[in-house]
Parts: sequence; structure tokens; C-alpha cells
Amino acid sequence: MSVDTTAFRRALANMPAPVTVVTTVDPDSRPYGFTASSVCSLSLDPPLVLVCIGKRAHCYPVFLAAERFAVNVLARGQEETARRFGTCGAEKFNEGDVTRDDRGLPLICGALTRLVCALVDLLDGGDHSILVGRVEHAPVTGGRPLVYFDRNFRGLHHDGVPRPAHPSGKSRPAAAPHADRHISDRSPFFSLIRKRPTKSARPMA
Ligand SMILES: Cc1cc2nc3c(=O)[nH]c(=O)nc-3n(C[C@H](O)[C@H](O)[C@H](O)COP(=O)(O)O)c2cc1C
Repeated sequence: MSVDTTAFRRALANMPAPVTVVTTVDPDSRPYGFTASSVCSLSLDPPLVLVCIGKRAHCYPVFLAAERFAVNVLARGQEETARRFGTCGAEKFNEGDVTRDDRGLPLICGALTRLVCALVDLLDGGDHSILVGRVEHAPVTGGRPLVYFDRNFRGLHHDGVPRPAHPSGKSRPAAAPHADRHISDRSPFFSLIRKRPTKSARPMA
């Protein structure tokens, strides 16, 4: 017995996921990439990550034959990049937000973290294949992540946590000016934030 597709999609929409752009090159150094949320750490020793790629993606054969690929973890504010790389067959590399590493691998500027990988294994996974990458470099720029949840791009509040009541008993200080407008008071993120003990306010990531 299998879950029906609509229920499965609805459940997946309720799993917060990272937003990454996975990039590689073909043998002529032409860049390819796609937006991916199905990215996960796999092993610490050796350092492995996995990425699931749809078999119908235009870039699928290029990734299967690739020697290396990069997982670019997008930051808040990079929604346009996520949409562009998530649009099937779009012109993805014309926007000036891409650089190359010393071996020609395309990298997304402004990414929070990049996992530069050697492709070491390929596994079958239904209508997707699983790329297994051994991580060679993992530079971290830092910042706040872009998250995909409930079919929307969202942010996490790192420092928009409600502050303790003012000692004077008067109203609380105003919310941080960068408070995320995508997070409504009905969102599970908001409930998590509200439930946090105010004294040990730490980033949620
Ligand atoms: C937020 C988001 C997450 C996505 N995650 C994945 C993923 O994990 N794996 C995948 O194969 N496609 C994923 N996609 C869809 C691909 O990015 C999209 O099909 C892509 O355009 C395929 O590239 P193509 O132009 O080479 O066909 C995602 C799209 C979005 C918007």
C-alpha cells in the first residue's frame, strides 16, 4: 500500500528544506545547474553528502557524467536565483551572479556555504537518482539561510525572537526591522519562536 500522491505532496510541503543550487560543467566547460532541496549530509568519515536529481531534468545526463559538482546553499534574498535555477530549461547562467573555482566549477556568489564535491557514487531512487559527493572543500560565508516550506521561500528568524518584557513593565521593544514578513503568526516557525525561552534566545538553524 502506498500513500496517495496528493497526501504525499502535502506532507513533503510541510517539511522545511534548505534551498541550494547544485552546479557542474560538461566536458566543454559549459555550466549546468538546478535548484535542489533534497540535499543531505550522508557521512562524516568520509565526508559525504547526497543530492537527489530528477531523471527528467535537462541537466540530468550532465550530472551523471560529471567528475565534480558544487552544492551552493542559498541565503535569504536569493529567491530569484532559486527560481531561475528551478525553472526547467531556463537560461540560468546569464545573470552575473556566478563565479568559477580554480578548476572551472561554477559557483553561486553570495551562497552561505558551498560544498565542493567529487562525484563518487550514483544510486537509483525511483524517478530520481542520488548523487553521492565526497566533499573536498566546504567554505562558509555565513549569513541567514533561505528555506523552502509550505511551497514558499522563507527565512528563519535568527534575531527576531521576541525579547523579554521591558523591565519597566511597559511595552516590548519593537520587532527587529528585518523581521521576516513571510512568517505569519499562523506559521509553525512563528509558534516555535514564541515558545522559545527568552533568556536562551539562540539561532534556530
Ligand atoms: C525549491 C525547489 C527545490 C527543488 N528541489 C529539487 C531537487 O531536490 N531535485 C530535483 O531534481 N529538482 C528539484 N527542483 C526542480 C529543479 O530545480 C528543476 O526541475 C530544474 O529546473 C531542472 O533543471 P533543467 O533546466 O536542467 O531541467 C526544485 C525546484 C525548486 C523551486
